[in-house]
Amino acid sequence: MALQGVMDTLKHASLEEIGVSFSLADILRDIRIDGNNVYLKLFSPSEKYHEYLKEKAETVLKNIGAEKVEVEFTDEPPKQQQPPQPPPTAQQNPFENRRRIPNVKKVIAVASGKGGVGKSTVAVNLAAALKKMGYNVGYLDADMYGPSGPTMLGAKDKQVLAKEGDILIAPESHGIKIMSIGLLLPSEDTPVIWRGPVLFKALTQFLFDIDWGEEGLDFLIIDLPPGTGDVQITLGQTAEIDGAVIVTTPQDVALIDVKKGIQMFNEVQIPVVGIVENMSYFVCPDNEKKYEIFGPSKTEEIAKQYNTEVLGKIPIEPKVAEFGDLGIPIVLAKEDSDSAKAFMQVAENLIRKLSQ
Ligand SMILES: Nc1ncnc2c1ncn2[C@@H]1O[C@H](COP(=O)(O)OP(=O)(O)OP(=O)(O)O)[C@@H](O)[C@H]1O
Ligand SMILES: [Mg+2]
Repeated sequence: MALQGVMDTLKHASLEEIGVSFSLADILRDIRIDGNNVYLKLFSPSEKYHEYLKEKAETVLKNIGAEKVEVEFTDEPPKQQQPPQPPPTAQQNPFENRRRIPNVKKVIAVASGKGGVGKSTVAVNLAAALKKMGYNVGYLDADMYGPSGPTMLGAKDKQVLAKEGDILIAPESHGIKIMSIGLLLPSEDTPVIWRGPVLFKALTQFLFDIDWGEEGLDFLIIDLPPGTGDVQITLGQTAEIDGAVIVTTPQDVALIDVKKGIQMFNEVQIPVVGIVENMSYFVCPDNEKKYEIFGPSKTEEIAKQYNTEVLGKIPIEPKVAEFGDLGIPIVLAKEDSDSAKAFMQVAENLIRKLSQ
């Protein structure tokens, strides 16, 4: 069988039945053809879809004359996504003690250089979009000073129980497991004034001592505080993160901070999987006209410059903020809205990017 024919067939094998708009070719990680036998390695972070994907591959390839179709799965991030390793030095490598977060297949950090650009909104909606696609998802609010996750996920009243060995059990809201310092403080107004070692200890407990449920997680979304401070550095030095998503608005001032953010992630050796442009435009409900409130976007230019891509552009919609305050991510509250569709697109692009 010719490789070209097989590749064309995989490209046309849509996976719409499981709610994604990409094809078998998009999740292909390795292929070997031996006569009429085909061996495929597919990227899939969730075992849930293995049976479906295997059958799909068999059906489409047998249709074009394959005799045996062997399918293997992987959830490993692609090699080329790892940033280049620095040359060994006599000093201790600060990243060598990094650990994987137990029971989690893919860890995604949502970050921004500038505050208030919509990181938490993107993080909760990305979590909700992945949940909607059928994945097991957790949301970790690593904003230790200004946690907004419990409000945005409608989890303010959820109780955190502890079990043996100081392990905290993550409660669930909208089917998403959640952990946030906001769930542990006596009241919403309690100021958190930790510094250095205490912050480090609390964050490490959040990363490694949480019970995310019996089935474990396909994705853990970590919502970071703004900027490039202690939390980001601790995260980079202690945990293996599979990718960072950087959120920005189209303004120049925010974009300058995107550059800083990308540079910081390069320094802490966390691969940047892409940029989400939030508040990209506003569609006036009276005349359906599109307004670029912050001016024309330069995000693509910057993505190109730093060898990454724009995963999606989210419009400004008052309902995003309204439902955020009510504790229902827009992806779940108004699935037909432009912003909900844009968030679903971001989730799909993220999966596609992780599988490249
Ligand atoms: N696309 C959008 N349309 C309308 N409102 C939005 C949109 N994105 C975010 N918002 C609103 O903007 C405000 C700031 O968003 P959010 O809290 O997500 O930002 P953040 O980057 O996490 O902030 P911080 O830096 O303080 O953590 C919130 O009130 C949110 O509801
Ligand atoms: Mg936030």
